[in-house]
Order: sequence, then C-alpha cells, then structure tokens
Amino acid sequence: MKNEQKIKKLIIPAAGWGTRFLPMTKIIPKELVPILNRPSIDLLVDEAIASGIEEIILVISTRKQEIMKYFEPNIPLEKELKSKNKWELLKHVKKTNREAVIRVVYQYEQLGLGHAILTGARFFKDEPFAVILGDDLIKSDVPVIKQMIDEYQKVKSSIVGVQTVPYEKLNKYGIVKPKNEKEKENTIFEIAGAIEKPSANKAPSRKAILGRYIFNYSIVKYLEKLEPKEEGEEINLVDCFADYLKEEKIYAYEFDGTRYDLGSIEGFALATIDYGIENKEISNAIKQHILKIAASIYQDTSELNFDNSENNDKKRKNKK
Ligand code: G1P
Repeated sequence: MKNEQKIKKLIIPAAGWGTRFLPMTKIIPKELVPILNRPSIDLLVDEAIASGIEEIILVISTRKQEIMKYFEPNIPLEKELKSKNKWELLKHVKKTNREAVIRVVYQYEQLGLGHAILTGARFFKDEPFAVILGDDLIKSDVPVIKQMIDEYQKVKSSIVGVQTVPYEKLNKYGIVKPKNEKEKENTIFEIAGAIEKPSANKAPSRKAILGRYIFNYSIVKYLEKLEPKEEGEEINLVDCFADYLKEEKIYAYEFDGTRYDLGSIEGFALATIDYGIENKEISNAIKQHILKIAASIYQDTSELNFDNSENNDKKRKNKK
C-alpha cells in the first residue's frame, strides 16, 4: 500500500536566477555560495541524507551545471591530496561524491515552485516524497525532514513545515489557513488551505511555510492541472492545495530549528556567524569578535530594532 512506503526520495528545486545575489550570481550559482567552506546546497543534502533519504533530485537550470560538478568525483584532486598525505582533506572532498544518490534534472523554464516540483516528481513512481527549498537552511538537533518523516508515519498525509513569523514578514511566504483555529498552536494541525504571500491583513494565520514539505504522490495530478494565471507567470505550489484538499488532508507541522533565509544576503551573513560559532577551529575568534563589536554597539542600542517576536512566541508556547 502506498502509505506504508518509506520516504526515500527528495527534491531540491534550485533553478532560480538568484537576482538578490547579483553581480556574483552572474557566474556562480547561489546554491554554491559557501557557509564557511561548504556550499549551502551541500548542507541541505546533508539534512536529506541524515533524514534517511536515498535519492535526491536537484532541479536546476542549464546555467547551473557547476552544481552537478560539485557532486561529481574530482579524481586529479583526489590523487593530488593522496600524494601529499592530506587524508583529512581527502575525506571531505570524497564526501561530496554522492553520485549514487544525486540526480540532476533540468528545468528549462523557471516557471515557479509548483512547476519545479513537478519537473522533479516526474521521475518518481507512486510513492511519497520530500522537498527542501534551496533558500531555506535550517539548523536543528534533529534534521527537519526527519522530524517531518516521523510525523508522516503517524498521519500518512502530506505535511508542510511551518514556523510563526512576524506580521511584517507574512507577505514573503506561503501562509497556511488552519482548519480549526483552536488547534493552530499545536505542533501539528490540519490546514484548510494556504495563500502565497498575502498582505498582513489578508493572512489567514501567522504560520509560514518555510521550505520543507512531504507529499503523497497524489499531489502530482493537481500540480499538473496548474496553469500560470498569465503567460510566463510563475506557478505557485500552494495554488493546487484547494483542489488537493478535496481529496486528501494536508497538515502543517511546526518544526524545531533555526531557519536562515538564504534568499537574502542577511540570511547568509547570520548563518555564517552561527555556523562559525559552532566550528571548533574558528569558534573562539568569532566569539571574541562578537564581544568586541557588541561592546561598541551597546553604546548606542537606540538605533537597533530587536525583532524577537518569533522566539517570544516559542517561549510563550513552551510555558503553557
Ligand atoms: C517559496 C514558496 C513559499 C514559501 C517560501 C519560503 O517562496 O513559494 O510558499 O513560504 O518559498 O520557503 P519564494 O521565497 O521562493 O518566493
């Protein structure tokens, strides 16, 4: 039976232009921009593998073939490292050669997330699959896709990963409409729909979809029915939810973890600091630097806008 299948396949859509990172993205795909010494997409692949995923489909554009190269073996480099006895470096380089797990699929036109997922899912048979968006890096004790696979085993329905976001950011995300208002503070709750990037006054909740999904394969036929509203316009994933919900349930799961918006320069900068603090070799240097600049910033905190609403929400919830 389809619902008893394990989730072994995952799609990472990574075909976008990366315009917010121009001029660098003229020549380097955004997904290869590093957090310390690893391309961000490598960290997402790690999350997938640590969650038990065995096959990853990267949906890329033909301009981004370097992404594919990153995951291929580089034999001359491996020989060079061996000849110099650089075993530790060799281990790191070889870890990226996961060609048995990673496949690349071209999305010839960037027609939006719904289209990208469909492009990847065409390579699957009737089996549930997961999705990680290239712009959403999440640091957590248990990989978020693993958290969601565990929930999937209980509900056997499609799940979107959400977190509470501040009002002023609602128009940046897909926002879910809880089926039952009373349940929306539960870790997992059924949804009655989702709206892509609503204005704050039209948003049905403050729960934003943040780049993690598990879908039953049945979503594919609803994705196939989606058409751009106007010629050349992007196809939103959430636009198929209304029809899909007539056939199956969709749940929202509030995952545990710190999410970085790698679609923005700010997100990259914050991730670099946090991953740096956790890196044994540079942790002390970064902490000392932060203390030094904190001392000088502290002299004039009036200019700072401390936006802690997301964390405060979490604390409030934990107190209940
Ligand atoms: C996409 C999705 C949106 C989601 C967001 C963050 O938007 O369409 O529903 O909330 O990613 O994961 P994008 O940021 O690509 O415009």
